[in-house]
Amino acid sequence: MTSKTLQFKKPSLKGTITVPGDKSISHRSVMFGAIAKGTTTVEGFLLGDDCLSTIDCFRKLGVDITLDDTNVTITSDGMDAWQEPTDILYTGNSGTTTRLMLGLLAGSSVHAVLNGDASIGKRPMKRVINPLRDMNAHITGRADGQYTPLAVQGKTLTPIDYTMPVASAQVKSAILLAALNADGTTIVREQEPSRDHTERMLRQFGADITSKDGVITFRGGQKLTATHVSVPGDISSAAFFLVAGALANESEITLHNVGLNPTRTGIIEALEAMGANMTITIDDEAAAEPTGTIVVKTSNLKATTIGGAVIPRLIDEIPIIALLATQAQGKTIIKDAEELKVKETNRIDAVVDELTKLGANITATEDGMIIEGPTPLHGATLHTYGDHRIGMMGAIAALITDGDVTLDDADCIAVSYPTFFDDLSTLQ
Ligand code: S3P
Repeated sequence: MTSKTLQFKKPSLKGTITVPGDKSISHRSVMFGAIAKGTTTVEGFLLGDDCLSTIDCFRKLGVDITLDDTNVTITSDGMDAWQEPTDILYTGNSGTTTRLMLGLLAGSSVHAVLNGDASIGKRPMKRVINPLRDMNAHITGRADGQYTPLAVQGKTLTPIDYTMPVASAQVKSAILLAALNADGTTIVREQEPSRDHTERMLRQFGADITSKDGVITFRGGQKLTATHVSVPGDISSAAFFLVAGALANESEITLHNVGLNPTRTGIIEALEAMGANMTITIDDEAAAEPTGTIVVKTSNLKATTIGGAVIPRLIDEIPIIALLATQAQGKTIIKDAEELKVKETNRIDAVVDELTKLGANITATEDGMIIEGPTPLHGATLHTYGDHRIGMMGAIAALITDGDVTLDDADCIAVSYPTFFDDLSTLQ
C-alpha cells in the first residue's frame, strides 16, 4: 500500500492520451480464448491487476497463455480439456473474474474453488448462484454461497428462462457462459440493458445468439471458434480524463481509442447534459466493438439529474461524475443507483465521505447522492478504500484543489489503469 501526494494544479491541461484496453472486454477475451479450441490472439489487452487475475485462473486450469506487452495468445484444446486445478483460483479484487468464472465452471467438467481479496469476500454472489442453481449447478460456499470462498463441481446444466432482478452484465454473462453447456435454449430477460460485451464476443467466436427488446436467446452446446480480438480502449478509464478536461482551466485533451459501445456511453450523455465541451469522431461503427476519438475542452458546467435506464450504462463512472458535479451550477441528483453499494466498496458512502473532505456540498441518499455546486475544493488526505475508481477520482480532484491531495493507497489504481499516473503526467 503506497500513499501518493498529488500537486497537479496547473495553469493549463493539454495533451493526447491513447486509452488502455477495456477491462470487461479483456477479461472476456481470455475466457472465450480458453473455451474455444485452437489459438486465439488478443491485441490491446489491459494489463490491469484484475485481468491478470483472470489469466492466472485459466493457467491453473491448464490453458496455455502467453503475454507479449498488450498482446495475448491463448492456446486451448477446448473447455473439455481443462485440468482440475490443484490450487484455489484466486480472483483478487475482480468481481467480473469471480462471477463469470462461476458460470463457466458450473458447466465444465472440473471441480474448482474460487477465492478473492477482502473486498471480494464482501460482495454478493447469490445474484449469480441463484440462477446457476436453477440451472442445476452444484456450488457451495460461505453463507450458503453468498460469499467467497466458493466451490464449484462442474456438470451438465439445464437451460433456464430468467428475468434479471438487477441490471448486471456480470450476472447475465455468468448465465450465458453456463448456458454454453446447458442441454437446450436459455433465455435471459433484461429490464434495463447492461453492457453487451459477452453477446458481442459470443458472435465474434462464431456462436449464434439473438438479442431483441431485452430478450436474449442462446442455444447450448455450441462450439466456439478461436479468433482474433482487438480490445478497444476503456471508456471507464477515459472518463477520468474527460472529466479532467471539462474541469481544468485552459484544457484540451484528445483521447484516442475510446470504446463507444452504446451500452457503455452513458458517461457521454451525462457530460453532454452537463454542458461539457466535447467533440466525438467515430472510427468504425461496424467493428465488433466501435471506437472513436474524443476531444474535450474547458467547460461551463450545469447540474443535471441522472437516473433510470442510463444508470447501468454509466454505473462505474458515477464517482467521477460526482466530482464533476461539484463544479456544476445547481443541484445534481444521482438516483436509482443503489448498485453502487455493492461495488469494490460502498461507492455512495466512499464518494460522499471523500468529496466532503475536499469541501464539496454532497449528501448521500438511499439510492445515490445529491451534489450542490459549484464549490471550491481544498486539499485533504483521502482514503481510497482500496477502490481504483475512488483513487482516480481523488487524483483528478487534485487538478482543481487549492492544496495537495494525498491518497492513502494509490496502488489500487493498477486494478484497471496501471499507467494512470504516467498518462496524467503527460498532460501539460
Ligand atoms: C462488469 C459489469 C458491471 C461493472 C463492472 C464490470 C462486467 O458490474 O460495474 O465493473 O465486466 O460485466 P455489474 O454486473 O455488477 O453491474
